Order: sequence, then C-alpha cells, then structure tokens
Amino acid sequence: MRGLIVALLLLSAAAQAAELSLELGSGSRRWSSAELLAHPQARWIEIDEDVSYQRRMRYRGVPLAALLSGVQPGDHLQAVALDGFAAELPAAALLADSGARAWLAVEDPAQPWPPLAPDKPSAGPFYLVWENPIAGRIGPEQWPFQVARIRRLAPLAERFPQLLPAADADHAVQAGFALFQKHCMACHRLNAAGDSQFGPDLNIPHNPTEYLAGDFLARYIRSPQSLRRWPQGRMPGFSEAVVSDAELQQLIGYLRHMAARKTAQSE
Ligand code: HEC
Repeated sequence: MRGLIVALLLLSAAAQAAELSLELGSGSRRWSSAELLAHPQARWIEIDEDVSYQRRMRYRGVPLAALLSGVQPGDHLQAVALDGFAAELPAAALLADSGARAWLAVEDPAQPWPPLAPDKPSAGPFYLVWENPIAGRIGPEQWPFQVARIRRLAPLAERFPQLLPAADADHAVQAGFALFQKHCMACHRLNAAGDSQFGPDLNIPHNPTEYLAGDFLARYIRSPQSLRRWPQGRMPGFSEAVVSDAELQQLIGYLRHMAARKTAQSE
C-alpha cells in the first residue's frame, strides 16, 4: 500500500512537472502547466471536430499567439512532440486572430484528458488545437499533440536544401513540395533531410514512385491500410477534404521528381 502511495505521488509529481519549452530566440522561456492554466488569457474552448479524439472536446487553453512574443508572421515554427513527431507551422497561421485560430490546450494534471486509444497516453500535456480550422485550410498534421517544445527555425527548404526541386521545376512540382512539407514532413524524411523519423525516408534507398505501380501510391496515401494491412500501421490516410485529387497528383509529382534527385550518399 505504502509503495502504491509513493508511486502515485511520484506519478502526480511527474504530471505536474510538465513543461513546455518555447525556443523563440529572445522570447524563449519555459512554461509549466500550472503557469499556463493560470495565464490571464486562458479560457475554456469548445472544439467541434477534434482531430486526435475524433469527437467534440472541451479544453482549457491559451491563444498560441499570446505565447509567441517577438514572432513575426513571416517566421517559421516547428512543434516537436514527445514521440519525435515534428509539425511544421508557418507563424502567420498561428498569429492570426481571425479565421482559423490556434490554441494551446493545456492538460490539468488534476483532471487528465482521456487516453487517445486504449492503453495509450492522452494528447497532453500540451496539444495544439484549432477553432474554425477550415477557414485556414489547416490540415490534420497541424494538430500536434503531446507537444514538448515549439521552436523558431529557418524554413525547411533553407535548413534542408536536399528537399528542393530543381530550380526549373514546373509549378505543379513546386506546389507538390509545399504540400509535402505541410502534410508529410511531420513524420517522414526525404534524402535523409527532415527532423522526424516517425515513418521511413521517402527517397532513399528507394522512392515509392519507383516501386508502386499504377495508382497504388495514390491509393496508399488515401488509405494506407488498403494496400498493406497490419494492426500496428501508424500512417494516417489523407481524405479528399484534406488533400484534393489535384493536390494528390502534385504531391506525387514532387515525389517522382525527387526520385531523380537523390543525394550522393544515398545508395
Ligand atoms: C503521422 C505520421 C505520418 C504522416 C503525417 C505521413 N506518414 Fe507516411 N508513413 C508513416 C509511417 C509510420 C509509415 C510506415 C508504415 C506505417 O506504420 O503505417 C509510413 C509509410 C509511408 C509510405 C510507404 C512506404 C513503404 O513502401 O512501405 C509512403 C509511400 C508514405 N508513407 C507516404 C506519405 C506521404 C506522401 C505523406 C504525406 C501526404 C505521408 N506519408 C504522411 C507515417 C506518416
């Protein structure tokens, strides 16, 4: 019994010690859950279609813009989750106070959120949620959960030139590159470039356009389990509401283009 109480005390201490690290240059600081819950701008928000819980949710949250002191709309931010997922976020969307609005939902250790799935942890301690996401065309990968840090970084293309299409690549390939950053880089690398390794590198040693015939790649992106089914699959499907058919073709066009631009050390 005593051991159990000690374990529970330790657990609750761990929950209370949750900290969010904001690495923004001069505006850098750490926030504890308690400080965020007591933030003057904290309030209760209703999220109609929560991407992670797939239902209506209610959170105590702080407008993300209130925490991003010194961040400019042209800046680029990245939210890094405890599992290594790294969401790429243009600052303009996070700073907007009309249209889609970004909130940092803060889990109160005294009232934990439900688990994301049986035997899984919750979306806490910090979870980026959106009011009115459709207005900003906010995709599901822009809802990072279990966030540990938010950092200001140079845009992906500057940090990782290996991701860039050829300078004379057409508009569709460039558009595909933008879509790839928005929807895929949170989990994948390409040419060994990127901050996440949640899923495999999509160019080395082989690019999926080299080994998936016909429309299998498009079908895989829409519904990974329609091609390869096993219980541990972790890649989400991208519906037409998130990636239109035209965008899917641009995305695949970028991948095909990059198959001819593998980095030297790749094979
Ligand atoms: C939330 C993380 C996540 C996101 C976002 C994601 N993927 Fe994946 N992807 C994975 C994981 C993990 C795998 C490995 C298979 C699995 O576990 O489902 C994978 C596998 C793949 C594969 C199969 C490789 C093979 O041959 O087995 C392709 C192709 C792929 N992803 C493309 C994409 C594209 C294109 C996007 C963006 C539209 C994307 N993924 C977005 C996590 C992700």
